[in-house]
Amino acid sequence: MKPSIQKEQIRRNALSVDCWQRYAGHRHQVTGLLCELPLESSTPALCVLGAGNCNDLDLRQLAARFATMHLVDLDGDAMHEGIQRQQLDDASGVKVLGSVDLAGLIDVLDDRTGDGSISEPRLHRFLQQPGPWIPRPLEPLAGSFDVVASVCTLSQLIDSIGVSLGKNHPNFLELVFAVRRQHLQLMLALLRDGGRGVLVTDFVSSDTCPELVDASPERLPSLCVQLIQQHNFFTGLNPMAIVRLLSQDAAFQNQTADVRLTSPWCWRYVSRTYAVAAILFGKTGGSRPAKHPTRP
Ligand SMILES: C[S@@+](CC[C@H](N)C(=O)[O-])C[C@H]1O[C@@H](n2cnc3c(N)ncnc32)[C@H](O)[C@@H]1O
Repeated sequence: MKPSIQKEQIRRNALSVDCWQRYAGHRHQVTGLLCELPLESSTPALCVLGAGNCNDLDLRQLAARFATMHLVDLDGDAMHEGIQRQQLDDASGVKVLGSVDLAGLIDVLDDRTGDGSISEPRLHRFLQQPGPWIPRPLEPLAGSFDVVASVCTLSQLIDSIGVSLGKNHPNFLELVFAVRRQHLQLMLALLRDGGRGVLVTDFVSSDTCPELVDASPERLPSLCVQLIQQHNFFTGLNPMAIVRLLSQDAAFQNQTADVRLTSPWCWRYVSRTYAVAAILFGKTGGSRPAKHPTRP
């Protein structure tokens, strides 16, 4: 019997709960990117998808920049405890939305028949759903954020598919690409016109590139280009492919502007080092309002 996806994510968050010091460089990069974005509103609103332990977010610095912050994750306890550790007071404008499945896939992947296999009809219904989708607890917030950040969450959404289905499942790749597309659509749906999306994603680790452990900041950009050329990256997480998707795919190009990729940096996690980069994009004004069907 496979552990439920939610339990597994909570277990992983527990493993990295004490990583505040270790994440300092990564936190500096993520927080810096969010704080440096030009904002039009005098009361800017931030939404963070996958906030978890909040070890990659300097919440006090963010609270000084944003009037309100919504933190969203499956693991509500991790976010509450992260806020406590960073000693934010009640006036900081932070709101926590826990137990939110950002891909809407957990019920599908955890729904097993007697022999432990997945319900194929449910899986196909998921794959056939039309257009953008937004988790129900986030519906009232659609179109309301100046900045939406996803912080190393897409890799976890995709990893859950591999762990649950196995990479040899005939629908594995289709599901990975559907979840990636849906995550980008969700970020756009939450943004107000003129808002900025920041997709921070880990895309390769020292498991397949041991050189990452000691790579200097000067060496890292050329090393990452080389790794991408060699197809040494997590399935679905080639940052250059995500840039192309947002700027050239018919479903995105009319809604996005100024799509760009940052230089990579290293994130020293508990047991390995990841190369991370952020894809920054604007949501254009005048895009047609998206419909947000509820999952069947
Ligand atoms: C790598 S962690 C991000 C790091 C985190 N911000 C921190 O500082 O510890 C990825 C986060 O995604 C969350 N996550 C994974 N799958 C999810 C899902 N289906 N829906 C919502 N959150 C999910 C996990 O609970 C975890 O907190």
